[in-house]
Amino acid sequence: MRETLEKIRKEAMEALASPSAELEELRIRYLGKKGELTAVLRGMGKLSAEERPVIGQMANEVRAEIEKKIDELASAAKGKAMEAKLAAEKLDVTVPGEPIRAGHFHPLALVQRQLEDIFLGMGYSIVDGPEVEYDYYNFQALNIPPDHPARDTQDTFYITDNILLRSQTSPVQARVMEKTQPPIKIISPGRVYRSDAVDATHSPLFHQLEGLVIDRGITMGDLKGALDMFAKRMFGEKTEIRFRPHHFPFTEPSAEVDVSCFVCGGKGCRLCKGEGWIEILGAGMVHPNVLRNCGIDPEVYSGFAFGLGIERIALLKYHIDDMRLLYENDIRFLNQF
Ligand code: DAH
Repeated sequence: MRETLEKIRKEAMEALASPSAELEELRIRYLGKKGELTAVLRGMGKLSAEERPVIGQMANEVRAEIEKKIDELASAAKGKAMEAKLAAEKLDVTVPGEPIRAGHFHPLALVQRQLEDIFLGMGYSIVDGPEVEYDYYNFQALNIPPDHPARDTQDTFYITDNILLRSQTSPVQARVMEKTQPPIKIISPGRVYRSDAVDATHSPLFHQLEGLVIDRGITMGDLKGALDMFAKRMFGEKTEIRFRPHHFPFTEPSAEVDVSCFVCGGKGCRLCKGEGWIEILGAGMVHPNVLRNCGIDPEVYSGFAFGLGIERIALLKYHIDDMRLLYENDIRFLNQF
């Protein structure tokens, strides 16, 4: 039996020296209920009274030795596993962080802010007005009575018979004049609506910027001076402006205003379609009826007004050939600004 125990010890120690099987398997093989050592202990009954304690002690020693070795290996393996886990989860707090990508302004917002900056620099204040507007302010106060043909070009969305989505920023003029006696010097940027089908140059929602200056002795010369300065600041110092006669119900006289092409300088190119000039806004001297409608005496005061489309300026400035790109919010497009 001694030899058997010796053999078990030797085998077990060899197996545990470089364990190829799982530790638990080895534990069962050597120490388990059906294990080799247990078999030896079971046979102890056959031993003589002198031999029994000697073999018993030896068997216990072998068991203890094997147990100790297995425990050592198990705790070493546990330590290794923990080390590996720590290595895998290592967090280097000194690594620089991922930069947070800041957003940026939409091209329309960029142009609107540039326009606002220019006019603020010229002493204008910015005024807001409602997008859901009374027919009165959008049309009647501006000298466009019901059934006036000028309404045809500004068909819009009606909430009721006399409440609509404003088709222009001009109603803000009337609201300001009603509340304020001159001097008045304001711009009013914002959304406007028309029942137009969407195409490369039309959208049922777009943006305008309105300007209004009222005081004693304001003349068309002041209008020209203001727009000339605006054009130079917006499109470059060499820019010239040109007035063409036009009709707006709320101004008299009225004009459409062109700027010399800021790409070719007036020679004619693709942008200005060979004209050398680009139409940029509508303007004129505020009609006496409009002043009167809003409680301002046209015998004492006069003034000019102008209105421009922000989309139009953005398309020209950034050489965009389809207005729909401004509303689709395709990130590949927007990232270019
Ligand atoms: N409201 C006009 C439009 O939508 C633009 C305009 C033209 C505004 C002349 C004005 C102006 O104030 O004087 O077509």
